[in-house]
Amino acid sequence: MESPQSSLEGKAVLVTGAAKRIGRAIALRLAREGARVGIHYFSSEAEARRTAEECGGAALFRANLESVAEIERMFREVDERLGGLYGLVNNAARFMRREALEITERDWDFIVDVNLKATFFCAKEAALRMRRQGGGRIVNLSSLGGIRPWAARVHYSASKAGVIMLTKALAKALAPEITVNSVAPGVIPFEDIDAEGLRMIEETPARRGGTPEEVADAVVYFLKASNFVTGQILALDGGLSLK
Ligand SMILES: NC(=O)c1ccc[n+]([C@@H]2O[C@H](COP(=O)([O-])OP(=O)(O)OC[C@H]3O[C@@H](n4cnc5c(N)ncnc54)[C@H](OP(=O)(O)O)[C@@H]3O)[C@@H](O)[C@H]2O)c1
Repeated sequence: MESPQSSLEGKAVLVTGAAKRIGRAIALRLAREGARVGIHYFSSEAEARRTAEECGGAALFRANLESVAEIERMFREVDERLGGLYGLVNNAARFMRREALEITERDWDFIVDVNLKATFFCAKEAALRMRRQGGGRIVNLSSLGGIRPWAARVHYSASKAGVIMLTKALAKALAPEITVNSVAPGVIPFEDIDAEGLRMIEETPARRGGTPEEVADAVVYFLKASNFVTGQILALDGGLSLK
C-alpha cells in the first residue's frame, strides 16, 4: 500500500518561475527535502543561478512559457538533464492591474498565455512523462483571485479560475497514477505590494500576509501525498476567502 506521505529524496521536481519570490522558496524547500530540483526561469538569469547554487547545484532551464514550442523544448532538455520527472510545480505567472473596459487583446494574452495556457501545456508535457514512469505529482499555483472576483484584474481572475478548473479536470483525466492539486495563495507580500494588497492584509482574518515558506509547505504536502489526494484546492490565505 502507498504510504500516506512519501519522501521526495532523489526525486526530480521541476519548478517554473523559480528564480525568486515564491518559486525560489519552493525550490529551496524541495532541495532541503532531498529532491533533485529543476529551476525554470525566463528573464531572471542571475537570480535563477543564485537559487540553483543555494539548492546545491540545481539544473537550470530557460524558456518563455508563452510559447508551446519552447515548453516542449524545455521538457526535452529536462529528459536529458534531470531524467525521470516525478513532480511539476506550475508556479510561473503574470499579475497586472487593468480596468475591465481597458483590457486589450494584448493584455488578455499577456496574462492568460502564461497563467493558464502554459500551465496546461507544462502539465501535459510532464504528464506524458509521468505516465510512462507509472506516476507523478503536479501542483498548480492558482490564487485567491481565482476564487473571489477581482474587478480591477478581470483577466487575471479569469486565468486563475481557469487554473482551478484545469486542476480538477486534469485530476480526473490523469488518475490514478498522477495527482493534480492546487495551492491558492491569498496575499504573500513582497517589496512591490500596493495599496490594494495592504488593504487585503487588513481584511485577512489572520491579520497578516502569508510567507513564501508557508506556500512551499503546502506545495510539499501535495507533492508527498498519496494518490488519494487529488483535484484539491488549498486556499492558503489566512482565511480571506471565507469573507
Ligand atoms: N505573491 C502573491 O501575493 C500571490 C498571490 C496569489 C497567487 N500567487 C501566485 O503564486 C505564484 C508565485 O507568485 P509570485 O508573486 O512569486 O510570482 P511572480 O514573481 O509574479 O512570477 C514568478 C515568475 O514567473 C515567471 N514568468 C512570468 N512570465 C513568464 C514567461 N512568459 N515565461 C516564463 N516565465 C515567466 C517570471 O520568471 P523570470 O523572472 O525568470 O522572467 C517570474 O519570476 C504565481 O502563480 C502567482 O500567481 C501569488
